[in-house]
Amino acid sequence: MNKQDFDFDRLIDRRDTHSFKYDGLQKVLGTDEVIPMWIADMDFAVPPAVSKAIIKRAEHPIYGYTFRPDSYYESIVRWMDKRHGWNIEKEWIQYCPGVVPALNMAVQGFTEPGEGVILQSPIYHPFFHAINLNHRKLLNNQLKELEDGTYIIDFDDLVEKAKEARLLLLSNPHNPVGRSWDEDELRTLGEICTANNLLVVSDEIHADLTLPGHHHIPLASLSEEIASHTITCISPSKTFNLGGLNTSSVIISDPEVRKRFEEVIESLHLGMGNLFGMEASIAAYNHGEKWLDALLKYIQGNIDFARSFLKEKLPGIGMSPIEATYLLWLDFRKTGMNNDELHKFMINKAKVGSNDGTMYGPGGEGFQRLNVACPHSIVEEAFIRIYNAFSTISK
Ligand SMILES: Cc1ncc(COP(=O)(O)O)c(C=O)c1O
Repeated sequence: MNKQDFDFDRLIDRRDTHSFKYDGLQKVLGTDEVIPMWIADMDFAVPPAVSKAIIKRAEHPIYGYTFRPDSYYESIVRWMDKRHGWNIEKEWIQYCPGVVPALNMAVQGFTEPGEGVILQSPIYHPFFHAINLNHRKLLNNQLKELEDGTYIIDFDDLVEKAKEARLLLLSNPHNPVGRSWDEDELRTLGEICTANNLLVVSDEIHADLTLPGHHHIPLASLSEEIASHTITCISPSKTFNLGGLNTSSVIISDPEVRKRFEEVIESLHLGMGNLFGMEASIAAYNHGEKWLDALLKYIQGNIDFARSFLKEKLPGIGMSPIEATYLLWLDFRKTGMNNDELHKFMINKAKVGSNDGTMYGPGGEGFQRLNVACPHSIVEEAFIRIYNAFSTISK
């Protein structure tokens, strides 16, 4: 592997590729003139082995219905063991076209309209849709924010909410606050859920993006009892930048829960899956590890830069500690801008295309989420723009 293969500094023009992040800017943020740092995909080329696998398959000129070979499941089993120390069986894995679809399928398959489903805001906005659009009762176990910007789970509130819920949607690690939940927190959460016979959908899509010095713990790895109440969602899509390939998996050890989930997938006729996603997934899990390790160091560099920049030049803007993901959770509350003013400031004045914190529900007011999975020069440019925009205001 030569250095060029892992050149995360390379600027790749993504415009005119129907990229939602770039070509969807006008539609979503109302302007093309921002640095797009919103939706969670990366501006880095995928591992070379992934491109090779897709090109090789594309050269065969027929793209008919396909099944997933044993090697697909084996690559996941090996990856989970090697990266996360979790021993799973092939039979526990069920393909799903996406993690958000899996959240919705779990809500549909395991709860009835009107029944309670817990989430923990501020949280990735499709969690709200999975509850509201399916007409379930939303129970918000809002995260608590500590003085240094770290978030923790409000367990007293969770104990109460668990009594009237059927399901909990967990983000582990958490988007947007960047927590990689630790063993005590997960164990406590798992025990509260099992005591109330509550099923947990543990969305672990960001697990592989746990940053150096931190350690991801799959909720279901903690005990058989907790595993029997858990549906774990994983995907190579965040890890290896394959969001457009619609390929993820759910891992369910309990045979009855698995059977029910399979019925939901089959009822929608979604089990066949995406041919190129399957090839990419196998190549990524089998050959992507060195790339991923290099990527994590690079992202950590971008995060460290952002933290020092803010400390030195914009001390009034806070930034939560980030243990996982490539998403910064920036706190602008001390600027005195209301939410509308803040987002307009970012988009129209700084020309940095961030996500508005209010998207993520209660607790997101006064925050912006910024995606730093891009070349370092872009992150620098974005922070200079924010700094310059503030300078013009204060004049
Ligand atoms: C927590 C979380 N879950 C799920 C997704 C998207 O999953 P998918 O594209 O597989 O539906 C994202 C994407 O940002 C995410 O942050």
